[in-house]
Amino acid sequence: DGKYHPVKVIERRKLQSTEPSDYEYYVHYTECKISVLPRKILEIDVSFFYNNDIEMIVNRRLDEWVKLEQLDLDSVETVVDEKVEDKVASLKMTRHQKRKIDETHVEVGHEELDAASLREHEEFTKVKNIATIELGRYEIETWYFSPFPPEYNDSLKLFFCEFCLNFMKRKEQLQRHMRKCDLKHPPGDEIYRSGTLSMFEVDGKKNKVYGQNLCYLAKLFLDHKTLYYDVDLFLFYVLCECDDRGCHMVGYFSKEKHSEESYNLACILTLPPYQRKGYGKFLIAFSYELSKKEGKVGTPERPLSDLGLLSYRGYWTRVLLDILKKHKGNISIKELSDMTAIKAEDILTTLQSLELIQYRKGQHVICADPKVLDRHLKAAGRGGLEVDVSKLIWTPYKEQS
Ligand code: ACO
Ligand code: ZN
Repeated sequence: DGKYHPVKVIERRKLQSTEPSDYEYYVHYTECKISVLPRKILEIDVSFFYNNDIEMIVNRRLDEWVKLEQLDLDSVETVVDEKVEDKVASLKMTRHQKRKIDETHVEVGHEELDAASLREHEEFTKVKNIATIELGRYEIETWYFSPFPPEYNDSLKLFFCEFCLNFMKRKEQLQRHMRKCDLKHPPGDEIYRSGTLSMFEVDGKKNKVYGQNLCYLAKLFLDHKTLYYDVDLFLFYVLCECDDRGCHMVGYFSKEKHSEESYNLACILTLPPYQRKGYGKFLIAFSYELSKKEGKVGTPERPLSDLGLLSYRGYWTRVLLDILKKHKGNISIKELSDMTAIKAEDILTTLQSLELIQYRKGQHVICADPKVLDRHLKAAGRGGLEVDVSKLIWTPYKEQS
């Protein structure tokens, strides 16, 4: 935006030039308030987040290589590395997430992601490796590091087959691949079709390579989420826009086959060219429709990213307030949860953040003044694409013996 913003220099690399002292610098924008970050995520109202959610937003999406002349050298400070430990205290993770982040030693037993592994994660992932990818008709700038096998790490760009998600270092390899790849849609069962939109359910155990490829791809846009999946344990729900050339992936979410923590979604991604069109809310709505069919309540795996939280908050607000608006008489959190498959805690925090829970005559009540509800609904953004439940043909996962 033409202004200077504080950065931390994380890495430097030599430029191939005649000047021996020519370097490029990899910088991290240190301003925590995402509302002030200029380019890619505008208009985010930070008051919307809880305090500990803000802690989670270690936003590294804007990290990039810059030239010396882009830096204001008069304002340079040398800083001693801040203590990661403090941050970690609030960054509780489940064993499961810890296991996924810690790909090298699969050690479970610590409830929290300890300072050492967080530092290790940040150290290991501090510089983006792959800068762009080609996928179908799009060339996409990546956001974060992803742990591709070492032989891919010297390439700045990777070429993905949009159907089987195999990736290659050179365009010619992809062209050769496309001539013999016979997939035209994700492997697995088509469980939803409405107009040009289709959803495919892919079992990570039956389609291991596809599942792994999808994780490598997704990690380029997810930061503190996953480094590596034990894909056997997951189902992948891949949303596609279909035409006569095939089914083109727009996004996906993954779901554990069995979750002790009642997670109904592990990771969610809308590919950047398709973002902000309502697909994120569609995927979220879809995950709750699956929970309803299972007769369970669900919640997304934590931590949520900034964009993940915004999308969830928008979804929860809309679904809950739509019910409150129509409902006559009393309604409890439990009833709301039964109707929506949204976990009670998420209902409570959503209503609390909207200041709709009041303490009256010794008990907590939901305030449902229609004018207030309408104001919040307006602020919650667009509804997103609707899931037409009559088009969903699905039975919950059962282990095959
Ligand atoms: N700036 C401001 N608000 C945004 C932005 C943005 N760039 N992107 C999304 N939002 C908010 C808006 O409130 C939007 O609603 P609105 O358009 O009605 O105002 C709402 O989020 C959702 O918009 P959708 O179009 O339905 O969602 P989208 O298809 O863009 O997908 C998603 C949202 C999946 C979070 C996407 O941003 C993404 O893939 N991000 C990268 C990966 C990620 O962070 N995933 C979540 C991690 S947490 C987890 O996996 C459990
Ligand atoms: Zn292919």
